[in-house]
Amino acid sequence: MNFPIFPEQASTIARSVDQIYFALTTVSSLMVLLIFLTIVYFCFKYRRGKPADRSPARLPQMTIEVTWIVIPLLLFMGLFAWGANVYFVQQRPPPGALELNVIGKQWMWKVQHPEGNREINELHVPRGRIVKLTMASQDVIHSFYLPSFRTKMDVVPGRYTTEWFQATKIGTYHLFCAEYCGTKHSGMVGHVIVMDPADYQTWLAQGSPGSTLAQAGEKRFRELGCSGCHMGSSIVRAPPLEGLYGKPVPLQNGQIVVADEGYIRDSILLPNAQITAGYDAVMPSFQGHITEEELLEIITYIKSLGSKPPEQGVGSRAMEPR
Ligand code: CUA
Repeated sequence: MNFPIFPEQASTIARSVDQIYFALTTVSSLMVLLIFLTIVYFCFKYRRGKPADRSPARLPQMTIEVTWIVIPLLLFMGLFAWGANVYFVQQRPPPGALELNVIGKQWMWKVQHPEGNREINELHVPRGRIVKLTMASQDVIHSFYLPSFRTKMDVVPGRYTTEWFQATKIGTYHLFCAEYCGTKHSGMVGHVIVMDPADYQTWLAQGSPGSTLAQAGEKRFRELGCSGCHMGSSIVRAPPLEGLYGKPVPLQNGQIVVADEGYIRDSILLPNAQITAGYDAVMPSFQGHITEEELLEIITYIKSLGSKPPEQGVGSRAMEPR
């Protein structure tokens, strides 16, 4: 009979997460046993009518107190350091990741691949590659949970959260929404399909979306009129976007922020919240005029500008008269 109690260990961190889980359970069980066995023993030893010695005990107080403070302290601080270490690994995607976008909405998961492929309630990934998910919610809080990869992250409206994994085994694994998000929450499930890297390339080619995600983003960028101010010789002076992603941006109020996905998102939706030093607050908000999917496309486009030199990039094309 196939009745697995634990999901498969199918990612690089699965083993270390399980080790902590079992270590914590073991230490907690031992502590509970120690305390309860002592209680039971004393219950019998000092029962009413038992001729036990009840005179005050003369023990080396200092030694005992130091022992029972220091040993558990070391033990539990050790567990804390161990857990924190794994947590930090889990929170920080290593460089060179394959960057995918995920949009949660009642009640489905939408995935965007950089090559332009899109899927719903399925996530195809190559084995052995680090995959970083940038996640947004279109409505309420969801949570992207991959039990076999031992990773889970809330997907929150109004901001981006990230999650990363490196799948180690080819196969199909469960994907769950792990945050109660409405009547069909339990149906907000799907599959992660881990493929051989060559098969993944074949799968991408078969999907043949026609344009990459960055190209789709560029199209939106022009349709929404962003290029009018942000590219080439525009009348309105706006901060250039080439090479912006990942760089520190000095703001008018003296602060310096890093231009990550969240910053670019805020700059599109709440343009007056963080004004780049040396520029006027003239950009209109696109709140309500743009979907989460379009936002992620435009952000992917702006990220793709990082590698292009400003002169030969899209900037030169924007020199054409509008
Ligand atoms: Cu989405 Cu529960």
